[in-house]
Amino acid sequence: MAIDYKERIPNNVGLADDPTLQRALEHWQPRFLDWWRELGPSTFQGADVYLRTATSVDAKGWATYGTTKMPEYRWGIFLAEPVADRRIGFGEVMGQPAWQQVPGEHRATLRRLIVTQGDTEPASVEQQRLLGLTCPSLYDLRNLFQVNVEEGRHLWAMVYLLHAYFGRDGREEAEELLMRHSGDKNKPRILGTFNEPIQDWLSFYMFTYFTDRDGKYQLKSLAESGFDPLARTCQFMLTEEAHHMFVGDTGITRVIKRTLEVMKELHTEEPDAIRRAGAVDLPTIQRYINFWFSSSLDLFGAEVSSNAAVYFANGIKGRPDETNYEDHVCKDSTFTFETPTADGIASETVTMRNAMNEVTRNAYIRDCEIGVKRWNRLIAKAGFSFELALPSPHFRRNIGVWVGKFADPAGKIVSSEHWNQQLPGWLPSDSDKAFIRSLMQRVIEPGKMAGWIAPPDRGINNLPVDYSYVHLH
Ligand SMILES: [Fe+2]
Ligand SMILES: [Fe+2]
Repeated sequence: MAIDYKERIPNNVGLADDPTLQRALEHWQPRFLDWWRELGPSTFQGADVYLRTATSVDAKGWATYGTTKMPEYRWGIFLAEPVADRRIGFGEVMGQPAWQQVPGEHRATLRRLIVTQGDTEPASVEQQRLLGLTCPSLYDLRNLFQVNVEEGRHLWAMVYLLHAYFGRDGREEAEELLMRHSGDKNKPRILGTFNEPIQDWLSFYMFTYFTDRDGKYQLKSLAESGFDPLARTCQFMLTEEAHHMFVGDTGITRVIKRTLEVMKELHTEEPDAIRRAGAVDLPTIQRYINFWFSSSLDLFGAEVSSNAAVYFANGIKGRPDETNYEDHVCKDSTFTFETPTADGIASETVTMRNAMNEVTRNAYIRDCEIGVKRWNRLIAKAGFSFELALPSPHFRRNIGVWVGKFADPAGKIVSSEHWNQQLPGWLPSDSDKAFIRSLMQRVIEPGKMAGWIAPPDRGINNLPVDYSYVHLH
C-alpha cells in the first residue's frame, strides 16, 4: 500500500486502475486549488514552509519533512491498511463482514455524515486564514500552516469517499464543499462552531485544543464504522489530527508559562498589572476556555438522539474506542444523565443507544480535563492559587436539554437576570478581545517569540527552535 507520488493525485487506493474516478477527481483538483488560493492562508502562498507530508500509512515514520510552497503541497488520498476479514464491531450487525460498498439502505445517512465531517475541514482553514499576519513566531507560523494543509487533505479524504462511493450525488456534494464558506451569511458552513471567526492566536490554540479534539472523537466514532473505506480513511486522519491537538495543548501551555513568569517577576495576580506587562492574565484564559469548550460541546449533538441510536444499531457509527466497552450491542443497557427540571436538576434514564452522543461527549470531556490538570499544576508550582476549570457541560449550550436553561459555569442553576448580568464576566468581553488583539504583533525573526508566549520546549522534527521554519519572500 505504498503511496504513489508520481501520480497527479498521490494515493494508496490504486486510483490509476479506475480511470473514471481518476478523471473525476482530477477535475475537482483545480477547483480545490482555486479555493485554497482564494481562502487559504492569506498572503503566504509564495512562502517556503517546512512541512511534513505523508509518505506511508504505517504507524512509524509515515511523515517526511521538507520545504515546499503551500499550493504545491501534495494533497492526496491515504487510507490506513485494510484489516483482513474485518468484521463490524458493534450494533445489531455486530460480527458481520464490514461493507466494502455502501449498503443501499444506509446511503443517505452515510453521505450526510461524510458531508458534515468534510465540511468542517475547509471551514477551519477559512476561519484561520488571516492568522499568519500576526504570528507570534516562525515556529508557530509553520504549525498553523501544517494544520491548514492537513485540514485541506482531510477535505480530500472525504471528497474521495463521495466521488468513489456516492456517484453523481457524491460529486455534487464535493462541489458544494467548496461553495459553502465559514461565516458566509448566505451559504455558511454546516456546524455553528465552524462559523466563529478566529482572529487571534489565543483563539487558535483554544480551537486546536477543544474543537480539533471534537474532531478526534468524531473520527474515532467513524473509524469504527461498518463502511470500511470510511473507517480506514478516518483511521489515518487521526494520525494527522494528533499534531493539531499538540499545537493547541502546547500553545495554551506556553501562554500560561509566560503569564506565570510575569506574575512571578511582578509578584502579582492583578490582571491589569499582568496586561500592562504584555501577558495574558489567567481570568482571561479562563473566559476563552469557557467560550470554546461550551461551543465545542454542542458539536456532539443532543443528549438523547434517535439518530445516534440508529447509527449505532446499524453499524454506521460506533463509540470512540469501541473495543474498550464490554457490551457492543447495547440492546438492553441504559444510561443516566442530568437533565433540567422546573426547579433544579433531576436524573433521567434512557436506553444506551439513544445516549451515544452523551457517552462520546463524556469521553471528550475527560480528555479535555487532562490539559487543564497539567496547567493547574504549572500554576501551583509557580506558587499561585488560581485554578483553571472546564465550565459545566450545562453552561451556555445551544443544543440539547440545556438550551435556554441558566446554568452558571459551575453548573448551578441561576435566574435568567443573574445569568444575563454575569455572562460578560464568563465569556471574553469586547475589551478582552481588544486586549488580545493588541498583543497580536507579527514576530518573524527566527527563534524570537512574541512577549505574551513562552518558547516551545523543542523545535519540529529535532530541529532547533530558532530554525527558519518559514521563508517569506
Ligand atoms: Fe481535520
Ligand atoms: Fe484538525
